[in-house]
Amino acid sequence: SNGHPLAGRRVLMTVGSTREAIDPVRFIGNRSSGKMGYALAEALRACGAQVMLIAGPTSVPAPVEMMRVDVESALQMRVAVMVQVYTCDLFIATAAVADYRPEAPVDGKIKKTEATMTLTLVRNPDILAEVAALPKPPFTVGFAAETDDLEHYARDKLEAKQLSMIAANRVGDGPGGFESDKNALICLWPGGGRRELPMMSKPALATALADLIAERYAAQSAG
Ligand code: PMT
Repeated sequence: SNGHPLAGRRVLMTVGSTREAIDPVRFIGNRSSGKMGYALAEALRACGAQVMLIAGPTSVPAPVEMMRVDVESALQMRVAVMVQVYTCDLFIATAAVADYRPEAPVDGKIKKTEATMTLTLVRNPDILAEVAALPKPPFTVGFAAETDDLEHYARDKLEAKQLSMIAANRVGDGPGGFESDKNALICLWPGGGRRELPMMSKPALATALADLIAERYAAQSAG
């Protein structure tokens, strides 16, 4: 057929961090700046896709004139995703979602009366796994952020969550990952598919990843 495989496709993406409230003034958060997710959103739009963002807090501004729902916590992000997911063709989870949240946020500001304090955390729902397990899931792309054994853990996540693709990046020490202007990815898909996208600027990397997503989406659609 004519045209780009992603032209007119609806892409739902999660972007940024989540904030899990401890009390009215404090939260558990993470270092996701939104640079990788927003760069990918721009690259997908350049392919002709219609992009909808579900965005947690970020330190960089969102692309202008792109549909966006702002959320704070993982639970809010999950609800916003589930509202939109039934009408999307692709779902891409770039957000760094907190795996745990404080069991019960305290109503008033916690006072510093004790020498130590204990915070009890409970598991958050896994948004990516829930989307991938839908009866008719969209083409679902996960990210994997790992400090070690990158490819091994990424392959496990691809298989355990039955994803269409996973994009794995090294975080912690080194040039890429959270907050950096650069990144590198190892992309994996079912049947032993693998492509390495070397260290480059996040916008350039996003363009290469969007091309790979388009290629795999077209291959899957062709059956
Ligand atoms: O925002 P930047 O500063 O540019 O940094 C980019 C990035 C490092 C945040 C990004 O490239 C990245 O790796 N995003 C995923 C971070 C992450 O939380 O990875 P994870 O391995 O913990 O989670 C695996 C996948 O499950 C991710 O697609 C995540 O969005 C998803 N997930 C995780 C937990 C949860 N409760 N729900 C989810 O949907």
